[in-house]
Amino acid sequence: MIDHLSNLRQEALTSLDAVSTPIELENWRVKYLGRKGPLTEILRGLGQASPEERKEVGAAANQLKQDLESSREEKESTLQDRDLHDLADRDAIDVTLPGRPAPLGHLHPITQIIQEIVEAFSAMGFQTVEGPEVEWDRYNFEALNIPQDHPAREQHDTFWIDEKDKNGSPSMLLRTHTSPMQVRFMENHKPPIRVVVPGKVYRYEATDATHEWHFHQVEGLAIDEGISFSHLKGTLYEFAKRIFGIKRKIRFRCDYFPFVEPGAEMAIDDGKGGWLEIMGAGMVHPKVLEGVGVDPKRYTGFAFGMGAERIANLKYGIEDIRSYYSNDTRFLRQF
Ligand code: FA5
Repeated sequence: MIDHLSNLRQEALTSLDAVSTPIELENWRVKYLGRKGPLTEILRGLGQASPEERKEVGAAANQLKQDLESSREEKESTLQDRDLHDLADRDAIDVTLPGRPAPLGHLHPITQIIQEIVEAFSAMGFQTVEGPEVEWDRYNFEALNIPQDHPAREQHDTFWIDEKDKNGSPSMLLRTHTSPMQVRFMENHKPPIRVVVPGKVYRYEATDATHEWHFHQVEGLAIDEGISFSHLKGTLYEFAKRIFGIKRKIRFRCDYFPFVEPGAEMAIDDGKGGWLEIMGAGMVHPKVLEGVGVDPKRYTGFAFGMGAERIANLKYGIEDIRSYYSNDTRFLRQF
């Protein structure tokens, strides 16, 4: 058997010498190293051999297999080199040129800023969840204390989706803010709650340097016993410090949103003597809590909703919000 292996080695190596193309090399591999090749057969037949023979022949056959495999690899790289040199000889390519790096993309600046915002809140114990962009009127407005004829609906110019509720009025829409997730989350989770909800929102409005028709918000909601307005203020100041640093000025003042009481808005110094409003906030309205079965006498909480593009504008000194979605790679490459 050992003689047989040595003849096999001789034959395989001689025949490998004669190989001159990748196809011939593959045929050679199938013939000598393939599943139906002589080596596999010998290794398979070892079961019937005596223990001594099995040991001796097994070791020799495995060694031969390894040797043939490394000779095959050597041949393969010789063939590849030869191909390249052939091309070079014919001046088809310059093999000494360095390779061209493939262009690598990166995360969109708004994705990056959303990650940063979410991380700032995660460090303060907030969990991150997401919600649907196609939403029911009930979640986007009704459950947030904005009934059908409420004037606040006018501030949310809405993309309606053609569906009618039982009164014949449209009831499905592209969410105009991330606040519906306050309701959805409270419907399914009991306090204590601390969540942030990043996501895309849509408004049927004219665009300008600070307004887009689709943009991103990060909603925040904290519900527990004993939560007060000072917790809201403390959390948002900590957030602003983490994102903009301690030197940037913050303006915090009263505002109105039907789903909070009292309501506030936060603006950041735009570095040019003005302010840019970045979010609405406030203490969750008792009616909203009651609507989802949370007892407002026992639990209180705060909520906020911020615009990611505006935060990116302030952080990176971008003048026009529309730049993010103009698909100009010269702009996007800077981030
Ligand atoms: C809201 O959307 C409320 N849901 C925020 C809120 C949540 C209040 C929880 C209270 C409690 P507002 O429409 O002001 O509010 O939008 C919030 C932020 O989104 C704004 O401060 C601004 O930063 C951003 N924003 C609003 N409209 C646009 C727009 N057209 N383009 C870009 N960003 C916008």
